[in-house]
Amino acid sequence: PRHAARGADGALRLAGADVRDLAAAHGTPLFVLDEDDFRGRCSEFAAAFGAEAVHYAAKAFLCTEIARWVAQEGLSLDVCSGGELAVALRADFPPERIALHGNNKSLAELEAAVEAGVGGIVVDSFDEIARLADVAAARDTVAPVLIRLTVGVEAHTHEYIATAHEDQKFGFSIAGSDTKDSAALEAARRVLAASHLSLVGLHSHIGSQIFETEGFEAAARRVVKVLADLHAEHGGENLTALRTLDLGGGIGIAYRPGDTPLSMPALAEELRAIVKRECAASGLDVPAIAVEPGRAIAGPGTVTVYEVGTVKDVPLGGYSRRYVSVDGGMSDNIRTSLYDAEYDVRLVSRASGHDSVPGGDVPVLSRVVGKHCESGDIVVRDCWLPADLAPGDLLAVAATGAYCYAMASGYNRLPRPAVVAVRDGVDRTLLRRETLEDQFRFEV
Ligand code: LLP
Repeated sequence: PRHAARGADGALRLAGADVRDLAAAHGTPLFVLDEDDFRGRCSEFAAAFGAEAVHYAAKAFLCTEIARWVAQEGLSLDVCSGGELAVALRADFPPERIALHGNNKSLAELEAAVEAGVGGIVVDSFDEIARLADVAAARDTVAPVLIRLTVGVEAHTHEYIATAHEDQKFGFSIAGSDTKDSAALEAARRVLAASHLSLVGLHSHIGSQIFETEGFEAAARRVVKVLADLHAEHGGENLTALRTLDLGGGIGIAYRPGDTPLSMPALAEELRAIVKRECAASGLDVPAIAVEPGRAIAGPGTVTVYEVGTVKDVPLGGYSRRYVSVDGGMSDNIRTSLYDAEYDVRLVSRASGHDSVPGGDVPVLSRVVGKHCESGDIVVRDCWLPADLAPGDLLAVAATGAYCYAMASGYNRLPRPAVVAVRDGVDRTLLRRETLEDQFRFEV
């Protein structure tokens, strides 16, 4: 988080609040969110791309209050289920600024989106185009549609490979567009032929936690190529509503010191230049560029605070590994076990010997693990923690605002942690800790 620093006493202050007080008041594990960090990232994206062109990807983390913040910051919202849509509507999020995603939206989800009057439905299959056309026709309305393209760019953190990613469930392939027999061009034909559907945009999403511009640039060029193909086939007068190229999310964040995220103004500038140039080459009007950042808005501003329960040194022949067990784990952060994700973790409740090197303790190579009944229940695989770490100490894991609470489970009947937002030293509970009574409510 931007407003986080350890004081002389070694305790972390986040947006003016002492994590020891927050832990005492709310219990641990605890997600602590720096509200101004979240809002600040919203406004940076807004400044770079234009507020409405930025669709916060709700899947990273959503609750009613977050939806309100996103609305207040003027952004749009990307939802990918009826549940996320319901949270947005509960927050009175302007429906025309909501777009619905998903490769298998149910009939009920399509109906809810059309009835709410969302600004876009991103179609992902021929089945869905027909289903949505029926839903809109039955309500005598016209549904705004974006077509999700599989542009053949696979983006990784440190590389992008322009082959071999056709084989996945999302989108309409653009392969074969040269001969006009791509799935993407056929999808556009069907949308344009449906009188209750309006083609308002083309969409591409190339991956997540990306640190390079090349993948986005390649995707932008390919999406413009499809736009040009559509103009050639249908004529611009039949495509007047098609004004948005949505290039998806995926902008990477710093999980560890040394990770270097892309600069937002620079990426926006670069993408605008490419789209402008490619459109000029084909004689097209320049469409609006939209993006769907989730992690880059929600991720950096949150830490998870855990209490250390046990410290165990396991001799491994010549060296030993220190296992530090905390009071949460894979139920509040599955990302380490699922994606080999890396995190930065610090002692945040007191000073330690090695804070004041020279002369301090030498830190110990440690592994922070959870309390679940699985050896793969690892929160931070390798980290240096103070030699005198002891039960009762608080640890904070940084940048846990995206895809941690959102992917939390009740595994081993651990209650989901609370989420508190802090601003100017004042904390507010966004989501209270789950209780066993909450879980028992499902039992019939
Ligand atoms: N738009 C679409 C269509 C998406 O599928 C996604 C993410 C996003 C936007 C937002 O991507 P972001 O800006 O947050 O990278 N659970 C994984 C990430 C899965 C991302 C799925 N789609 C993780 O924890 O790393």
